[in-house]
Amino acid sequence: MTKIITAALPYINNVPHLGHIAGSHLPADIYNRFCKIKGEDTLFVGGSDVHGTPSLILSREIGISPEVLTDNLHKVHKKLYDYFNISYDNYSKTSSPIHKKNVQNFFTKLDDNGYIQEKTSIMKYCEYDKLYLPDRLIEGTCPNCGYENSNGDQCEKCGSLTESSSLLDSRCKLCGNKPIEKEDTHLYFSLDKVSNEISDWVKTKEEVFNNITYSEAQNWLNKDLHPRSITRNMTWGIPVPKKMYEDKVFYVWFEAPIAYISFIEEINNKNLWENKNTKIYHFLGKDNIPFHTIFWPGLLIGNGEYNTPNNVIGYNYLTYENEKFSKSKGVGIFCINFLNCDINIDSLRAYLTYILPEKRDSNFNLLDYKNFHNSELIGKIFNFFNRSLNMVWKNFDGEIKIDLSNDLEIISKVDEKCSIIMKNYEIFSFRSALSKVIELASIGNIYFDNEKPWELAKNNDLEKLKEILGVSMYICEKLIIFLNPILPTISRELWEKQLQKKEKIHYSKETSTSMDLLIKKPYPILNRIDDDQLQNYEKVLTREFSLKNLINEERKIN
Ligand code: 2FM
Ligand code: ZN
Repeated sequence: MTKIITAALPYINNVPHLGHIAGSHLPADIYNRFCKIKGEDTLFVGGSDVHGTPSLILSREIGISPEVLTDNLHKVHKKLYDYFNISYDNYSKTSSPIHKKNVQNFFTKLDDNGYIQEKTSIMKYCEYDKLYLPDRLIEGTCPNCGYENSNGDQCEKCGSLTESSSLLDSRCKLCGNKPIEKEDTHLYFSLDKVSNEISDWVKTKEEVFNNITYSEAQNWLNKDLHPRSITRNMTWGIPVPKKMYEDKVFYVWFEAPIAYISFIEEINNKNLWENKNTKIYHFLGKDNIPFHTIFWPGLLIGNGEYNTPNNVIGYNYLTYENEKFSKSKGVGIFCINFLNCDINIDSLRAYLTYILPEKRDSNFNLLDYKNFHNSELIGKIFNFFNRSLNMVWKNFDGEIKIDLSNDLEIISKVDEKCSIIMKNYEIFSFRSALSKVIELASIGNIYFDNEKPWELAKNNDLEKLKEILGVSMYICEKLIIFLNPILPTISRELWEKQLQKKEKIHYSKETSTSMDLLIKKPYPILNRIDDDQLQNYEKVLTREFSLKNLINEERKIN
């Protein structure tokens, strides 16, 4: 069995902010790493969503071609996900040749299966910009909630997916003029024809989807599912392989999810998607839920060749100091600044996990980060490592070889906590998994405080001391295993360098009742963050930057 894990494909018209990391890349990465410690086969793919109007407009503004723009921003994105240690097996982009072929074939299959229809409608055309206005370039009043600055494809305020033609008082976003109406013919996917299948499929996910995913999907099913247009009048995108449509491209939302299949094919074989033993997990933010629970399964059902996803793990939003991330308003932490900051990425990943917007929106706050780092990570978890490792080093020259069959009471308490942590990871409750890991460290600290090994050392009761430290090291090993998905670098260093373990980090349910370790001299694992450092982080991380300069620098490097 192979698990395919995906994170939503970021639009390549900006650099990611922390909300993107917390809302898809990081949880997908945690799950991938968790599967690995269980010894499962996984393929983790993602990539840049390069087509669409925003990147086209941006490239016009900067005066470069959309290819040059997106190729360079893609490199920046890739660099950042590497920096955050996101363990993609393939981070690709939707301009890849394999993807073009797949999208065109996918479409042809849908057409052959009778799920594509033509529809002539009145489109908005801007006479000033000489452009049929794609949804993103039209704003107006949302017919659903009355919000005046709603986008043409999805209302920012109420989240409803609109068609630009349904907006009231529409305006061209580029020049502000009122567009004229012109007739144009487009291709539509007959979402209505698969609505029963989609609804049956969503029903099977009642116990599988998390609350937000299930409720967003249900909201959609409560409305009628209409045919959705899948073509656009532009040149930047994947050409439509059908007579009379040669000058049109596919709408990004039609082609982007197909990229998951393409990116698997680039490194493996797309047949993997057809194999009944393959399981598919999509990680994404709230705004992407309708597309992944309604539209995408609908396309897969209409196509008929591929498996539908096993789970869609949707996340709420992360805010920055209680405000929505926004580059134009200068709110938030943009990941590009991390490249100039010495913040410890593992520690930051742990904090993001601690506040992951699983059940509701959550807020990133630097002071809160500092407190988490100092009191939870260092004060609880690494304090336990330090005190255990130092005593093993000082009293036994780093060697602990001991039978623990007299310590089953504490060991079973530890194992019980481990099963709970496993369960939390299994059900994608990563926040809770981390809290339980901290509780496991507390079990260790309390054990240490009660057994007072320093007194045993003073009294030279070396046998008993070795036993206590043997149990402590048992706890340390488990901690490293369960910290690995969240703090991959630190845990690996501890495992390989500190504990000198040769085998890969893995979890086994079996209780082991002996300990046989030869550790290296302990070293400080993490330093505390003080106020000056925090101020410096804030200064560096919230620094404004120019996308144009960034792209130009990237072009110089390459
Ligand atoms: O919201 C976004 O950034 C979209 N580019 C996500 C696409 S995910 C998928 F369907 F490929
Ligand atoms: Zn215009």
